[in-house]
Amino acid sequence: MESMGGRPTTAGVPEDVSRDVREAVEAAVWAPSVHNTQPWRFAVRGARISLRADADRRLGVADPEGREMLISCGAALATLRIAVGALGREAGVRELPDPDRPHLMADVELGARALDDEHAQRLSEAVRRRRTHRGAFKHAEVRPSMLAVLRLEAEQGDVRLVQVVEEHTRQALAGLTQAAEHLLHLDTRLAGEEARWAPAPGSRRADGVHEAAYPGDAPHTEPYFPARDFARGHGWGVREGPGGGPDEPSTGLVLMLTTRGDTPLDWLRAGQALQRMLLRAAAEEDLAAAFHTQALEIPELREFIRTRFCNGRYPQMLLRLGVPEGPELATVRRPINEVIVDETGPA
Ligand SMILES: Cc1cc2nc3c(=O)[nH]c(=O)nc-3n(C[C@H](O)[C@H](O)[C@H](O)COP(=O)(O)O)c2cc1C
Repeated sequence: MESMGGRPTTAGVPEDVSRDVREAVEAAVWAPSVHNTQPWRFAVRGARISLRADADRRLGVADPEGREMLISCGAALATLRIAVGALGREAGVRELPDPDRPHLMADVELGARALDDEHAQRLSEAVRRRRTHRGAFKHAEVRPSMLAVLRLEAEQGDVRLVQVVEEHTRQALAGLTQAAEHLLHLDTRLAGEEARWAPAPGSRRADGVHEAAYPGDAPHTEPYFPARDFARGHGWGVREGPGGGPDEPSTGLVLMLTTRGDTPLDWLRAGQALQRMLLRAAAEEDLAAAFHTQALEIPELREFIRTRFCNGRYPQMLLRLGVPEGPELATVRRPINEVIVDETGPA
């Protein structure tokens, strides 16, 4: 502990360590999560943050295995790592460290102050600014060199970021997303679960996808990837001011994150890759992503996508990327005290 410096608090933890731990968790909660479920808890013991999946927040119908929950936790883990790096500390990370505790996602140990990590600082500046987009994109090109940068950012270990270029494949994925939307509406359990995470306007809940997070009337793009029906026919959503809307709305780039296997570790790594690339995209060029995971929640459609369009690799995320168009969107998070568990014992 001495090597980290700082005055010890009553619990024997240097003050600056406690401050950095809290700051890192404050950043991590801004990670994206499926339906904004925020399925995480951060147990703190001295300089160690243990990220735990909160299974009570798993989507029991759409995500029985917890795949999307672990992708969400992976995004939080990447944010933790980036925040710790931006604070000038090394982060010692052990992913899924205890097979007997499957909900323990990672232990992150804050180390001594290291050299400035400019890359982490740049990414960390985008953590609170990044938003999920739900609508069309401007007809502006994402440069191939930018895509190469995002690919490098995302690809670590077995995760790949793939651009879907072939027009028929783009159309087929859009069509499968439309089919998944219809199937979801036919299944009262799936539809009911989604509705429970889409609070009505005026709700004071600090989770879920609120009216401020989606446009009231997004333009149709070609190919058309439908957004989830969070408004449920009520006409909710943010409206564009007069004269708004692009002349030529674009679908944007269609991208998939894939993994070689389909284990909890693959999901956790896919989530980390997702958040790294989202932050890099936001930091470099104010690019944003719209997610379309409807078809990946239906096992038969996911298997079809895997065998037909992913060379047998497992699709983990399907998204569109571009310069966002339309009204500004806002999101919510639970206060930090609801997700942090202080397990630091007495000195
Ligand atoms: C695994 C995963 C799946 C998601 N699927 C969708 C989706 O199908 N449609 C959508 O609009 N947003 C999707 N999202 C985005 C979340 O709804 C979003 O992250 C959350 O509402 C928080 O908002 P923010 O990203 O703007 O901070 C997904 C996010 C994750 C991590």
